[in-house]
Amino acid sequence: MLTLKAADAGYGKKQVLFGIDLAAQTGKITAIIGPNGAGKSTILKVAHGLLPLWNGSLMFDGADLNGASPAQRVRQGITFCPQGNRVFGELNVRENLELGGTHLPKKEVAERVAAILELFPQLPPRLKQTAGTLSGGEQQMVAIARALVSKPKLLMLDEPSLGLSPNVLKDVFEKIVEVNRTHGVTVMIVEQKVRKVLAIADHVYSLKLGKVAFSGSPAELAATPETLRKLFL
Ligand SMILES: Nc1ncnc2c1ncn2[C@@H]1O[C@H](COP(=O)(O)OP(=O)(O)OP(=O)(O)O)[C@@H](O)[C@H]1O
Ligand SMILES: [Mg+2]
Repeated sequence: MLTLKAADAGYGKKQVLFGIDLAAQTGKITAIIGPNGAGKSTILKVAHGLLPLWNGSLMFDGADLNGASPAQRVRQGITFCPQGNRVFGELNVRENLELGGTHLPKKEVAERVAAILELFPQLPPRLKQTAGTLSGGEQQMVAIARALVSKPKLLMLDEPSLGLSPNVLKDVFEKIVEVNRTHGVTVMIVEQKVRKVLAIADHVYSLKLGKVAFSGSPAELAATPETLRKLFL
């Protein structure tokens, strides 16, 4: 669905990604793992159009994405939950969800919000609550729900586990799997909780210093000899 080929990118003059080949397969969950600073978030920023490609290509559903703005990409079916800042803290939950549909007609936004709320039973009682006062787990659910309001084909998540307790993290991961398996949304997820994300991923890329160090299934990663695996993780 989304394919990066020989992708170079960076900030200012500093190159961060070096010849990245990576694909998010339709209907699957693709995980990107790797140490701090490896370039994981940078890949998602390139995919969402927040950073330009220096070299290489970025295709989505057979179309060249290079040069398309983030808003155009949302219309094409790509959505992104960035690392950290999850919700618009001053707005209430309903307003946060509606922001996922700014490119859709008003009536459709209301329908989408209603449909998505059925997926997140903890949210309807909190629609009027200021999002900044929600718990971390609830805020993450709002962020995912907001992304889904945009009717994405591809949902990109940057470290959804950040700051969540193990129990809440379990709920969030189960929701991601449900969104993928039951609703057919393709998922690309960046995660430092390696064991957790390998349990739900179909394919995994391990990034080291801006390069792909490993690409394969979680089972293939687990089957590599210990000494080699240490190089990937
Ligand atoms: N806005 C920026 N300006 C300059 N350099 C940046 C910027 N954002 C990231 N970098 C640098 O790019 C490199 C890759 O950063 P990136 O955020 O992609 O890493 P990451 O793998 O997501 O790490 P983490 O696990 O800590 O989130 C790092 O060296 C970082 O310092
Ligand atoms: Mg990051």
